[in-house]
Amino acid sequence: MPSLVIVGAQWGDEAKGKIVDVLGNQAELVVRYSGGNNAGHTVITGGKTYKFHLLPAGILHPGSVSIIGGGMAVCPKSLIEELERTQELAGHELGELVISPAAHVVFPYHRALDALEETARGDNKIGTTSRGIGPMYTDKVQRMGIRMGEFVQPERFADRLKQVLEFKNRLMELLGGEPMSFDEIYSEYSAYADKIRHLVSDSEARTQRSIRKDDKVLFEGAQGAFLDLDHGTYPYVTSSHPTAGGACLGTGIGPRDIDNVLGVCKAYNTRVGEGPFPTELDNEIGHQIREQGHEYGTTTGRPRRCGWLDLVALRHAARINSLSGLVITRLDVMQNIPEIQVATDYLVDGKSLGHMPYTLEEWDQVEAVFETMPGWSEDISCAKSWDDLPETVQNYVQFIEKFTDTPAAILSIGPDRDQTIILRPELIWG
Ligand code: IMP
Repeated sequence: MPSLVIVGAQWGDEAKGKIVDVLGNQAELVVRYSGGNNAGHTVITGGKTYKFHLLPAGILHPGSVSIIGGGMAVCPKSLIEELERTQELAGHELGELVISPAAHVVFPYHRALDALEETARGDNKIGTTSRGIGPMYTDKVQRMGIRMGEFVQPERFADRLKQVLEFKNRLMELLGGEPMSFDEIYSEYSAYADKIRHLVSDSEARTQRSIRKDDKVLFEGAQGAFLDLDHGTYPYVTSSHPTAGGACLGTGIGPRDIDNVLGVCKAYNTRVGEGPFPTELDNEIGHQIREQGHEYGTTTGRPRRCGWLDLVALRHAARINSLSGLVITRLDVMQNIPEIQVATDYLVDGKSLGHMPYTLEEWDQVEAVFETMPGWSEDISCAKSWDDLPETVQNYVQFIEKFTDTPAAILSIGPDRDQTIILRPELIWG
């Protein structure tokens, strides 16, 4: 039963897309389980750069099946554009795409409400990607969402949209927005439904069948552990469950169907949007990391906040995701930083906390405690194996493994598929 979950072990943007692309090659099924087009996964292969937001990164492999799971938030307009763009750029047949009937649909009123709610929050804004994700998941919890299974049935869709839009228009007016027209949304979105109807089918049963058949199934996470609605730095989080548990909720499998969980982390930390970030570097080194790592959002283009690797957070991510192994990415970006720091504890009121806090009050007081390690000046982007890496890099990786009590399975030393060092294959498919 080789099934593998790939999760972000930080605040998103850990280069999961590249890892899913590399391993997706070996999988029969790639299933994305949460989030929507707030995510941005960059895959560089064959001299081409693909930017995925909704499509599982496994789509590039003909012969494989990519599933948009029931836990996802799907903007049909973006999905159709992304499919067409990917098809054109690839210039070859893509993998089969299946959309779960349980996935929720993002509509224009969700995007409008995202902006109105952010404005209403004033100084407490979250810094969302403004893709309507929060308002869509709010509808889901409020049992008001429109799911793919209904969206592709014209009469049912009309009924549901009428009912929901009446409510949403009142809400938008209350927040100072303009009401939206049923006819306009219905006619535009019916055309999208026509284009994707043939892709909607029972992905849960298909995933379960694959698991029973011992196919290789890869569950692709989006965002990262600390953007998780429950385990993240609430309320500065997204509205879904990027953690490994989300792979069960968002696809129709159970916890015992998962064999391995790989947590992808950068060799440093980044975050976009507001919220706590104890190792943030608002200085020259932060700037150097941002420029060397091209740390600008794939989805919004916003400059990412950069900082030292936070091992207190990473160890917590290892626990809440029950990680089998780590995938440490972007080690190449740390070149030419003479001394590297890593956070090994948090202080609150001068006392060691030893773990991540769960309240904003505590977050406000957290001061990170750092250990300093020597950096490296060598270009490691062509290394093919562990032995090709300078001792300073090896020591850095071993320090991370020891502190988090989690072995490194894969190292990534550049954006290309080939710039990947598999250290422990047994942690991947078992
Ligand atoms: P939302 O998901 O658009 O509601 O945004 C909520 C928070 O999650 C904001 O801080 C976003 O910047 C952050 N966020 C959402 N998706 C991603 C992602 O894929 N990478 C990094 N941050 C993200």
